[in-house]
Amino acid sequence: MKSSNITWHNSKVTKEDRQKQKNHKSFVLWFTGLSGSGKSTVSVELEKALYEHGVHTYRLDGDNVRHGLNSNLGFSPEDRTENIRRVGEVAKLMSDAGLVTLTAFISPYRQDRDHVRDIMEDGEFIEVFVKCSLEECESRDPKGLYQKARAGEIKGFTGIDAPYEEPEKPEIVVETDKQTQEESVAAIMDYLKDRKLI
Ligand code: PPS
Repeated sequence: MKSSNITWHNSKVTKEDRQKQKNHKSFVLWFTGLSGSGKSTVSVELEKALYEHGVHTYRLDGDNVRHGLNSNLGFSPEDRTENIRRVGEVAKLMSDAGLVTLTAFISPYRQDRDHVRDIMEDGEFIEVFVKCSLEECESRDPKGLYQKARAGEIKGFTGIDAPYEEPEKPEIVVETDKQTQEESVAAIMDYLKDRKLI
C-alpha cells in the first residue's frame, strides 16, 4: 500500500442495515469467459430478471468500464490484472452498499479472480463461468475482433495469442453454445433462489 497516515471511518448505517432495507443479501455475480461467449448478453438478461424480482442491482461491463474508470488501461497482462483489481474493489464497495452486482469481464487470469474472491466476504463472490468453445465464439465474432486478431491486426487477443484460464470450481456454469439465453438465466435464478440469496 502506498498511502500512509490514513484512518478507516465507520458509518452509523451498516451493510446489514442496507441489506435489511432492500430485503435481500448483497453479493457479486462474477461472469468470466472468452470474448463473444455471452457474458454481457446473459448478464443483461439476468439483471432484468433480478430487477423484476425486486432486487437492487448494478452491472459493471468490461467495454463500459474501460470507457471511464479504466480508460488508462490496455490489454497487457499487467493492465488486465489492474483492470480486475479495480473492478473487484468497486464490486466490494457495491456489496457494502447492499447491491447485487453483476460483472462481465473476460478476467482471463485465475489468480486475479481468486484475489477478488479473497477480498469479498465468505459466500459473496459467485463465479459464473460462461462456457463457450473458441470455435463458436470465433464464428459469432460480434465485433469482428477475432478476424482482426487472426489477421494480426490485434495483438494479444484472448484465446488467440493471449491466455484464458478456465475457472476450476465456479459456483455456476452456463454453456451458451448448448443452452438458450433463457435457460442460462433460469439456471442462475434457480441457483440464487435455492440458496435463499434472493
Ligand atoms: S479483461 O481481459 O478482463 O481485462 O478484458 P475486459 O475488460 O473484459 O475487456 C474485454 C473487451 O475488450 C475488447 N478487446 C479485447 N478483448 C480481449 N483481448 C484483447 N486484446 C482485446 N482488445 C479489445 C473486446 O471487445 C472485449 O469485449 P467482450 O465483451 O469480452 O467481447
